[in-house]
Amino acid sequence: MKFFVDTADLEEIKDLASTGLLDGVTTNPSLIAQSGKKFVPLIAEICKVVKGPVSAEVAATDYATMLKEGQFLAKIAKNVAVKVPLTPDGLKVCKVLSDNGTMVNVTLCFSAAQAILAAKAGAKFISPFVGRLDDIGQDGMQLIRDIVEIYKQYPTTFKTEVLVASVRHPVHLVEAAKMGAHVATIPPKVIRQLYAHPLTDKGLAAFVADWKKTGQTILDAA
Ligand code: E4P
Repeated sequence: MKFFVDTADLEEIKDLASTGLLDGVTTNPSLIAQSGKKFVPLIAEICKVVKGPVSAEVAATDYATMLKEGQFLAKIAKNVAVKVPLTPDGLKVCKVLSDNGTMVNVTLCFSAAQAILAAKAGAKFISPFVGRLDDIGQDGMQLIRDIVEIYKQYPTTFKTEVLVASVRHPVHLVEAAKMGAHVATIPPKVIRQLYAHPLTDKGLAAFVADWKKTGQTILDAA
């Protein structure tokens, strides 16, 4: 399973990239606004730090402008994935860009029917938002289960990767992995939560204390 980080905070991205576990980045207009940075130079910078796909979202909502924006964004770096909304115009843009070899991430997916359309439009990634479905009392993870199952029925024609988005806690990630989702895009805070377990901390404290009692150092023996 691939791990993307869902942030436009360059320092967070650098820090998480240093773990060697980061496969890509997703941004959206809200995250760009939070960063307070200029969009295009920021995406160029992120693309240098992380070699995997970096999602950059179009701002327009009409076909002609989205297409121009998408073509422009795709030129920033080879690893840009152009993000378009799951609308009729967005999917038209997805088809044109995908046919020309650009990676497209179709965002704001909330139903299996929408995910089928995105796969037919040649999307590299479909982004179902699990947390936002949970927020309105629906089962976000059921949507992931459905999309993974549907895409599996068409292994030669549906090449789209399921990119689990709007991840709110480690259980979302574990469930997505059990279902065979290809990618999860995870906020930095949730990535850090993945490491944590109180028994790890307790066990380590005991090992450190017991090791001190031996009076040895490993590197003295080197
Ligand atoms: C995905 O690409 C989106 O940026 C993101 O996962 C949205 O998450 P949110 O619902 O926490 O805003």
